[in-house]
Amino acid sequence: MYESNLIKIRILLTGANGMLGQRTAELYLARDKIELLAASIEDNSITKGIDYVSCDIANREQMKKIIYDFCPDFIINAAAFTNVDLSETSREDAWKTNVKAVEYLTEAARVIDAHLIHVSSDYIFDGKEGPYDENATPNPIGYYGRTKLASENVLKIGGVIHTIVRTNVLYGFVENSRPDFVRWLITELKNGKTVKIVDDQINNPTFIEDLVQGINKIIEFKKQGVYNIGGKEFLSRFDFANKIAEFFNLDTNLIKKIKTSELNQRAKRPLNSGLITLKAETELAYKPHTISESLSVMKKEIYI
Ligand SMILES: NC(=O)c1ccc[n+]([C@@H]2O[C@H](COP(=O)([O-])OP(=O)(O)OC[C@H]3O[C@@H](n4cnc5c(N)ncnc54)[C@H](OP(=O)(O)O)[C@@H]3O)[C@@H](O)[C@H]2O)c1
Repeated sequence: MYESNLIKIRILLTGANGMLGQRTAELYLARDKIELLAASIEDNSITKGIDYVSCDIANREQMKKIIYDFCPDFIINAAAFTNVDLSETSREDAWKTNVKAVEYLTEAARVIDAHLIHVSSDYIFDGKEGPYDENATPNPIGYYGRTKLASENVLKIGGVIHTIVRTNVLYGFVENSRPDFVRWLITELKNGKTVKIVDDQINNPTFIEDLVQGINKIIEFKKQGVYNIGGKEFLSRFDFANKIAEFFNLDTNLIKKIKTSELNQRAKRPLNSGLITLKAETELAYKPHTISESLSVMKKEIYI
């Protein structure tokens, strides 16, 4: 819809070198009617051929200058402190990136009326009664979840045009990034290694491409508020692992069940979680891939 406009849409993308950031950058790089400025903390952009600025989103003055100079119509905040266990011990760092930085983005976006699209997580919930719709009551059980909930609240009281996009368990091929769950599992199984996978964490893993398209629809329809963007199927991580192994003809006997409590991780995980995507399907025409469809796409991309 917006592509028919003569005026270009300006998008500032933070966290452009992350998993979601890279795939988002690739989409807008290919669009004539979009003027993209990618930003991340590293010196250089991973995605070639885009306008890039190195910045720390937790640096208020730096972000203010970038936003005022570029004057974006939309800001997609895909930057975050995403290490869930480390968030328990590096609390100041997690808060700085996940909350203070969102305050700074909000302040600057509000001044120029930029629409701030911020990515949040199902970790704002306790995992007792999932899956969750957009109106469910948050109750984070870990520090990462607390930072993500606080960031949502910053937007809600910040007087800024905004959309909160909640997602969970991202998977998909991103060339220059840490391997996602699918790529990690394939590598382990191909090497004949036994893997222990939890069978008590349930959610709807999200194909990154679906999230990118969901965010794009939010821009296209200029939708504000909260939207869940998740996968089509709800299943345990153990069942997800088995589906992946079966799809790629790998040995499912190497996948052993384990309980989350046996992992002794620093941060607690929401167990019965996942995000109901009915609102996005209805209002954004969001159509997530099935897991097999996503794996077929990935198969072509990673040449397995
Ligand atoms: N991955 C998931 O399963 C998942 C699930 C639910 C929600 N989410 C949310 O989705 C969003 C994107 O996640 P992702 O998996 O794409 O994360 P990611 O791969 O960790 O990417 C985040 C990016 O932000 C950058 N960054 C961190 N601190 C920064 C700072 N102060 N200034 C500028 N850039 C900074 C990171 O750089 P460094 O890597 O160098 O630190 C990284 O490039 C996040 O908001 C996350 O909370 C993710």
